[in-house]
Amino acid sequence: MTETTAPMAGVAMTAIGVAVIRARESARPDRLYDDPLASRFVEAARRFYTATPDGALRWERLEALADKFFEGRTVGVRLVDDRMNEAVEAGCRQIVVLGAGLDTRAFRLALPANLRFFEIDLPELFAFKEPVLAAANPTPRCIRAVIPADLRENWSEQLRARGFREQEPTYWVEEGVLGYLGGETALRVAATLTELSAPGSRFGAGRFRVDRSQEHYAELGRLVGGEHDHPDRVPGSFEQDAEQWLAAHGWRTSFRSWDELVAPLDRPVTNGDPDIGLIEAVRE
Ligand SMILES: C[S@@+](CC[C@H](N)C(=O)[O-])C[C@H]1O[C@@H](n2cnc3c(N)ncnc32)[C@H](O)[C@@H]1O
Repeated sequence: MTETTAPMAGVAMTAIGVAVIRARESARPDRLYDDPLASRFVEAARRFYTATPDGALRWERLEALADKFFEGRTVGVRLVDDRMNEAVEAGCRQIVVLGAGLDTRAFRLALPANLRFFEIDLPELFAFKEPVLAAANPTPRCIRAVIPADLRENWSEQLRARGFREQEPTYWVEEGVLGYLGGETALRVAATLTELSAPGSRFGAGRFRVDRSQEHYAELGRLVGGEHDHPDRVPGSFEQDAEQWLAAHGWRTSFRSWDELVAPLDRPVTNGDPDIGLIEAVRE
């Protein structure tokens, strides 16, 4: 059995919530994807949390939140799988996942062996993730590298040092991290990745209307605490301004509504709003 620590507070713990969602999805007969490693992460985290009464309570709250976010979030995972496969089919051989959390696409998608796959997240996240992976010993489908770095600081040097090639097109994955950074910092991350993006690189950003006053968002803030309310979190975040910003910085953008994207998936997640969906950007 792996003796490991797991993030019990701070934004890194949100990654465990998404692993709970992916483990649940993977157990369904009508699953949208199969992520067998998700249950390994969940079991390791559960063992760690439930070792103390306070941790056990936090675990209950985390599972309850995963329930609340399940429907939309699990469909979102599949949408990123599909976009990643599209990028690879279009010839992309370099992927960077921002705030990768417990993402296991380097192991579970049919990626080419020569594809370079970089995962960036906080050091405390990898302190949990890597030992669990080492115990499960899965074989990556591609060349995987982890970058323990804070996206609020300088991360591009570490990325280059691990073999990132800025002359080659990259598919940048943003799946639930920029919203935690705050508007100014998210824009700085977007500016950095723009500098690192060769023509043909791809980036996607959601255009959502998130009502952060809803109870499950408030509970997420309480459970995660501290870092979630980072001081430079300002209204008018990247999520709202992404399309204009990308267009003004050398990206060709297109938009597909959420309802159009989820239509083939047969899940009750449509919202009837043609303005909510995914902005897809290709570097010119
Ligand atoms: C909601 S989770 C999503 C994880 C993953 N993308 C997924 O969909 O499963 C948000 C992730 O962003 C990471 N994160 C938040 N702030 C970060 C920062 N400043 N630098 C690096 N990673 C960060 C957290 O550690 C966490 O893993």
